[in-house]
Amino acid sequence: MVVQLKKIRINWGFFKTVQSKVTINHNHNYFTKYLYIWLMKQKIKPKIISQIMQKITVIGAGNVGATVANVIAHKNLAKEVVLVDIKEGTAEGKALDIWQSAPINHFNTRVTGVTNDYLATKGSGVIVITSGIPRKPGMSRDDLIKTNAAIVKEVTEKATKYSPDAIIIIVSNPLDVMTYAAYLAANKPSSKVFGMAGTLDTGRYRAFIANALNVDPIDVHALLMGGHGDTMVPLPRYTSVNGIPVTELLGKEELDKIVERTKKGGGELVNLMGTSAWYAPGAAAAQIVEAIVDDQNRVLPVCAMLNGEYGLKNVYLGVPCKIGKNGIEEIIKIALNKEEQALLNTSAQAVRELMKSLDDMKLFE
Ligand code: LAC
Repeated sequence: MVVQLKKIRINWGFFKTVQSKVTINHNHNYFTKYLYIWLMKQKIKPKIISQIMQKITVIGAGNVGATVANVIAHKNLAKEVVLVDIKEGTAEGKALDIWQSAPINHFNTRVTGVTNDYLATKGSGVIVITSGIPRKPGMSRDDLIKTNAAIVKEVTEKATKYSPDAIIIIVSNPLDVMTYAAYLAANKPSSKVFGMAGTLDTGRYRAFIANALNVDPIDVHALLMGGHGDTMVPLPRYTSVNGIPVTELLGKEELDKIVERTKKGGGELVNLMGTSAWYAPGAAAAQIVEAIVDDQNRVLPVCAMLNGEYGLKNVYLGVPCKIGKNGIEEIIKIALNKEEQALLNTSAQAVRELMKSLDDMKLFE
């Protein structure tokens, strides 16, 4: 029997006899440290899982970037998280603030901040790009394209110079086209350059369903495809509450309302706060980082370059993917009915138009 408890994996069947089967992930937290000491006292030498993620870089120390770094640190996903920003002192200050919570919240990932110093990011295994100006009320994600493409290009080039093997996760908006911009700048396979948003949008969708049914959100499993914008495609047919189809628990009208609210989920928060969201976006990006660092093969919707999947080619779009140590290990193909495929095609067309306008800017020649 294999018991999985947080970061500790103990094969109890072999507990007394085969000591090397007792393994502790490198990511020590408070609990694993004491378990380690206890095991040593029992004269059982646990094997420490060896692949340590040395460094993760988060570019952009705004609300989203700082939250990503904070969650990564709290999950002990690497030895160090480097937060980078262009504004003097911002990354340093937020990193210091996060690090000062380490003794209180028991984490060990060092958090450092730098102003534009990419040498400090050297050797990162994962780079999360959150840079760019946020949306203002009334502004669409698409309005941001010009300014943010130039920023994403610059930071991707600078960061990949020092971490050529890093997997790059894009959070900047407009998400799908910024992922394409990073892909053009990074010069690496698209399986190593992808965008975050489906994980966030699915989070919102699941949270709304959990509220409507008054159930634990962890029991709501859902899939959402398409671009990170008004054309995103939540899929009630692939949504369940621990296996019970959501269509059996919620009426069409209510489900349609949830789908519509999900599509405008980012905008709802912009209207409330005057700027875009950060807690859920930060948590979603950190969840993808965790899947890579721990080689989890989690099935998460991310913005991936399609190469014929779903009948679509050369377009970055939200699809379910298996995420592990190599980034996108596999794009998962599911059967869509006519209506769902038509919605996905519309979404792909919307993203394609933005990708074309990026191409027309000739930023990458
Ligand atoms: C949102 C931004 C982060 O959807 O894209 O909240």
